[in-house]
Amino acid sequence: MSSYLGKNLHVAIFGQSHSEAIGVTVDGLPAGEAVDLEELDRFLQRRAPGRTDTSTPRKEADKPRILCGLADGVTCGAPLAAVIENTNTRSRDYDKLKDVPRPGHADYTAQVRYGGFQDVRGGGHFSGRLTAPLCVAGGIALQILARRGIQVAAHILRVGEVTDRPFDPMGEQGETLDRVRRAPFPVLDQQAGERMRKTILEAREQRDSVGGVVECMITGLPAGVGDPMFGGMESRMASVLFGIPAVKGVEFGSGFGAARMRGSEHNDPFGIEGGQVVARSNHAGGILGGITSGMPILFRCAFKPTPSISKEQDSVSLSRMEPEKLVVEGRHDPCIVPRAVPVVEAAAALVVLDALLDGPAKVEW
Ligand SMILES: Cc1cc2nc3c(=O)[nH]c(=O)nc-3n(C[C@H](O)[C@H](O)[C@H](O)COP(=O)(O)O)c2cc1C
Repeated sequence: MSSYLGKNLHVAIFGQSHSEAIGVTVDGLPAGEAVDLEELDRFLQRRAPGRTDTSTPRKEADKPRILCGLADGVTCGAPLAAVIENTNTRSRDYDKLKDVPRPGHADYTAQVRYGGFQDVRGGGHFSGRLTAPLCVAGGIALQILARRGIQVAAHILRVGEVTDRPFDPMGEQGETLDRVRRAPFPVLDQQAGERMRKTILEAREQRDSVGGVVECMITGLPAGVGDPMFGGMESRMASVLFGIPAVKGVEFGSGFGAARMRGSEHNDPFGIEGGQVVARSNHAGGILGGITSGMPILFRCAFKPTPSISKEQDSVSLSRMEPEKLVVEGRHDPCIVPRAVPVVEAAAALVVLDALLDGPAKVEW
């Protein structure tokens, strides 16, 4: 199973949902970067389970133990490694899933791929829990970027049919981004947030789950970061964002909406402001030819509804090759989206830092 990302920054995620611990190694962090562990902790708490009635009741402290890579609270250039203990596991909930796979989860495909040796407990290495170490690495990257005036913030744009006010593609005030990052239920429109919470609780009441969309904005990133084609910012970001369990769609700027537009509408006209080239609109989502334009980067991730639902579903017994009904036991999120918001920020921060570490493409001799 390969859970690596990055070209200059090598991030590897390890562990299973019910193994002793999960963790991350990060090689290539620039030396001399202070890491505020309290701030990192606050960031991790935004993802941690069991904190609200819209998340799984599995309560985990999610306190990382940083084993190496820091000296006196500052990155020392050596690889950083961090582990988070798994303390609240109930493996018996998963006994049946090796034979009767959950529709929508990875039980069946992992069984075929790993010949039955995969750890099914809690979803094993496929669990959303593996996004906790991603957030450790991403939380450190966010601090390094913030020090350089680069802000990454996401909010819940949609839950089911309920939508929040979208981010202004031309950019949001720093205090708006700060406020949404501090909010326990991160939305811009509180009334929409209340309706979303209601939708999630109703889905849970009906032994079901609901999907949604996370929208993310990156401000303060200069023009000229990234490369064309497969080295482009969209390619690099999409490959990491699709690595987040349950992500089924990623779009930048106007995204799929661009398909309905004319060039005269979609093109972002250029102008000059304060001696700088600016765009008068931002349908591109801040990326042209894979390279940042200096406009805010704006993208959205669609999350499917949580696959583990306690409604009876059709599955099969793999040992008997017969149809079998399945009622999924265990503790699950009725909607993944609220907990995925900081995960999207973490993933984006790692890609941006990795791309900045490419250095300038044009060398001054
Ligand atoms: C933060 C987070 C929490 C998740 N919680 C659950 C959960 O409680 N139950 C579940 O079945 N899936 C959950 N998932 C999704 C599964 O891990 C994912 O759907 C599964 O591994 C199959 O992968 P795929 O959906 O990417 O195909 C969660 C994902 C994330 C990012």
